[in-house]
Amino acid sequence: MAQVSGNVPNMDDNDVPDLGRRQFMNLLTFGSITGVALGALYPVVKYFIPKTGGGGAGGVTAKDALGNDIIVSEFIASHQPGDRTLAQGLKGDPTYIVVEGDSTLRNYGINAVCTHLGCVVPWNASENKFMCPCHGSQYDETGKVVRGPAPLSLALAKAEERDDKLVFSQWTETDFRTGEKPYWA
Ligand code: FES
Repeated sequence: MAQVSGNVPNMDDNDVPDLGRRQFMNLLTFGSITGVALGALYPVVKYFIPKTGGGGAGGVTAKDALGNDIIVSEFIASHQPGDRTLAQGLKGDPTYIVVEGDSTLRNYGINAVCTHLGCVVPWNASENKFMCPCHGSQYDETGKVVRGPAPLSLALAKAEERDDKLVFSQWTETDFRTGEKPYWA
């Protein structure tokens, strides 16, 4: 089965303190139940998570809602093409993993933090867009902003498989959606 691939020089799983990780994973679990409420609460919870600078060039292993490493083969086996699933990504940010039509994982994750005021943006499958519940911003299926007030597209992170784990690292190349340098790098 084809999967994402690539080399990541170093991997640091320990860059988010236990308390922060636990808070975050609680948030992810909570969000799957409460939907819109998650978006409103995220900036508040994020405020209390220590900033430790995790997710530099070396990358971090993506974590699921229970705080476990995401195993690529298991993830693909349990998700459908087109799925967008929140995971813990760089610097603890909620980041969507995308399952492609050929049951591979897309080689980038989409940061779910709205570029307007920081709500977590849910995926709306029927609209094929990310639609922010806070002030109505919309992003296409790649995370490109298509309706304000959000000023920028959602940030990207490289997504690569390493030893069957999914690793996020900084996306430093041109943003293919805009043809510009990534504003987040
Ligand atoms: S925070 Fe998303 S539109 Fe305002």
